[in-house]
Amino acid sequence: MARDDRFPPGFTWGAATAAYQIEGAAREDGRSESIWDRFSHTPGRVANGDTGDVACDHYHRYREDVALMAGLGLDAYRFSIAWPRVIPDGTGTVNETGLDFYDRLVDELCARGIAPHLTLYHWDLPQVLEDAGGWAVRSTADAFAAYADVVARRLGDRVAAIATLNEPWCIAELGYRLGMHAPGRTDPDAAYAAAHHLLVAHGLAVRAIRAASPGTPVGIVLNVEPKRPASTHPLDLETASLAHDLYNRWYLDPVIGLDYPPDGLRASGWKRDEVRAGDMELVATPIDFVGVNYYTSRAFRSPLLPPLPPRDPVEVTTMGWEWDPAGLTEILEWVHSRTGGMPLYIMENGAAYDPDPADPTRDPERTSYLRRHVAAAGAALQRGVPLRGYFAWSLLDNFEWAEGYRQRFGLVHVDFATQERRIRDSGRYWASLAAGTTGDGS
Ligand code: FCB
Repeated sequence: MARDDRFPPGFTWGAATAAYQIEGAAREDGRSESIWDRFSHTPGRVANGDTGDVACDHYHRYREDVALMAGLGLDAYRFSIAWPRVIPDGTGTVNETGLDFYDRLVDELCARGIAPHLTLYHWDLPQVLEDAGGWAVRSTADAFAAYADVVARRLGDRVAAIATLNEPWCIAELGYRLGMHAPGRTDPDAAYAAAHHLLVAHGLAVRAIRAASPGTPVGIVLNVEPKRPASTHPLDLETASLAHDLYNRWYLDPVIGLDYPPDGLRASGWKRDEVRAGDMELVATPIDFVGVNYYTSRAFRSPLLPPLPPRDPVEVTTMGWEWDPAGLTEILEWVHSRTGGMPLYIMENGAAYDPDPADPTRDPERTSYLRRHVAAAGAALQRGVPLRGYFAWSLLDNFEWAEGYRQRFGLVHVDFATQERRIRDSGRYWASLAAGTTGDGS
């Protein structure tokens, strides 16, 4: 088969997961309660009453899962660390048993030639820190820096990269403003405070990681997507531009030294009470890469205009997220326009579909979604975006937050009753990319 020359030699093909979504073992080996344990055990918060208590039981099956990745020929694996396993009280004493798990995982990956890409925070805050105010208070950012130091000291020598936060927009907005994710708060002031403290936490952690493990590449993972006007009407352009400020620029701009976007700031009404002298320099501490998570784009209609008639049907995943592969090229180019030569990674991209009852390994829709987005990533490379790698979300079907187990994103099907893993067609497609043999020009 011909080599796929859309992607340069050395391009990283990986798959991603997150601790709470796959590990299970929620009460083992000294792990404390996280905000997602509390949230998922609160009736009515998660579809079907699902929790991450067992999830994919990855905590016990990690060797099997790494073997699965090796079988797919993946270059890299993106995973996150559960803070409540490592520092159960949020601050202070390190739980060595918890840290040992990640040590073994990293060793196993290295032994198989799979580069470990570590994320420090993928949403599972120790509940004890939430009880003290969570991300709405600044002390959580200090606690995060101490946690980053512990992890970087132990694992920094063997991981390919460390990302501080996954999707701060989701943490602040879904968690503190809209109440759809843990901790389930609906307080706009707390959401603005959380957003700022998350960015401060990022800056502090970058410095802590650099001090503890010089040479380990450090970055952040942001969810960014085109915010499109629903029409060419000036009010729609304005609405979309504001959404772009509040969603994309609010996080990327401070990280690269551009401060919060002025129009978004004005519209938000946030008073910046939490911003201390020197904070914006701290947030803009230089990093080595930006990770982009991309699934869909959205169109915005001004509330002052009459609703538009429904558009022609487009392809939509079971999450209700419309396919927009061109949006991936576009958003990568936008990030690149702000970050210059800084390497970019697609840290998540993928699609939820129900399993085919006759054969859950057949997933034509997911495979085709990925093919179309891979082509879009190739187009971004051709236009000069320094894209270094692409991680599919997700390696395994897993606990999809407020959706529980009913939304499946895996390259690998998981039977949650038996924990049996079976590679899907999309997984084989991903393996062909890692092997550099698709060459299908898709
Ligand atoms: C992202 C999350 C990830 C997963 C996907 C579908 O927002 O980072 O954990 O749930 O969405």
